[in-house]
Amino acid sequence: MAVTSISRLCLVYGILLPTFGTLLSSFVTANPLQKRVVPERSGFKKVWWEDFTHKDGVSHNWIYDLGTSYPGQVANWGTGEIQTYTKDTNNIRIDNGVLSIIPRKKPSSGRPTWTSARIESNTKNQWACVDGKKMIVEASIKLGSASEAQSKGIWPAFWMLGSVFRDKGYKGWPEVGEWDIMESLNGMRQTWGLVHCGMYDGQIPIRGPCNEPNGKGSYTKGVGRGIWNTFGIEIDRSSKYWKTEKITWLINGVRRHSLSGSDINNATAWDFLVHKKFFILLNVAVGGGFPDGVEGYKTPYLGTIDGEKVGMQVDWVAVYQQN
Ligand SMILES: *[C@@H]1O[C@H](CO)[C@@H](O)[C@H](O)[C@H]1NC(C)=O
Repeated sequence: MAVTSISRLCLVYGILLPTFGTLLSSFVTANPLQKRVVPERSGFKKVWWEDFTHKDGVSHNWIYDLGTSYPGQVANWGTGEIQTYTKDTNNIRIDNGVLSIIPRKKPSSGRPTWTSARIESNTKNQWACVDGKKMIVEASIKLGSASEAQSKGIWPAFWMLGSVFRDKGYKGWPEVGEWDIMESLNGMRQTWGLVHCGMYDGQIPIRGPCNEPNGKGSYTKGVGRGIWNTFGIEIDRSSKYWKTEKITWLINGVRRHSLSGSDINNATAWDFLVHKKFFILLNVAVGGGFPDGVEGYKTPYLGTIDGEKVGMQVDWVAVYQQN
């Protein structure tokens, strides 16, 4: 969920080509379990978890992001997405310990207008990986089961931002660091895992240690929709040397792809990206540079549907620190 207004078309072509050959080897085994306890992880302590059963509901651990920007900050959340975020139960609610975020459209004389929801963990809930250890942040998520044709422009995400972003008044992207643990575009059976860091001055050519505005990372093919999968990120500082520290994306516990400090090759950018506290975001955006770039056209289309079939459900979210 890049905080930039530039189309990310280049991202798509940039990473499709080199990884296309691994397509057949990268199908993911789905985990069809229903509501369950937040798992333990051997060698790690579960330091925080959210299973959406607290009597205070969403507001126990989370802040609602409302409207079309942070107050006074870049429009359309910096990505060109078109929805307005609300905390209406039509857009976000908890049923039987499962969070649902549901995009809704309203007919209008021009293009339909959209609402949806976005939450971020509050300032008590931000974590950094301890030096010399590993940290894993993981969630159990069910992506909507609608077809690709019905889902153009729908953009669910589970991601994190450096808390420096908050300290600076929601400014300073991308230097503050961003981990996109799972981004889903246009109803596709694939998810992206990217980071953003370093600097980006809004100019082409794309630049900086994280190749902004596209970010660095990859995607995984064969991710099932309408079923529960776990998506996670592992921050590995066990080597105690920044160039060999690592970020790894996990789907259903399987390691998918990684980036090391030497891949980013900028000590300052890596320090922001891997050594500082991060907070969690969950949202379903509609339209914007990333889905438009993947599609090659402006999304959403008139045929894009709203409702639960294009929503995202979250069973639990957990943070694990290595013992
Ligand atoms: C390294 O990243 C920092 C921001 O995190 C940036 O100010 C600096 O210009 C970058 N250096 C290079 C060579 O890209």
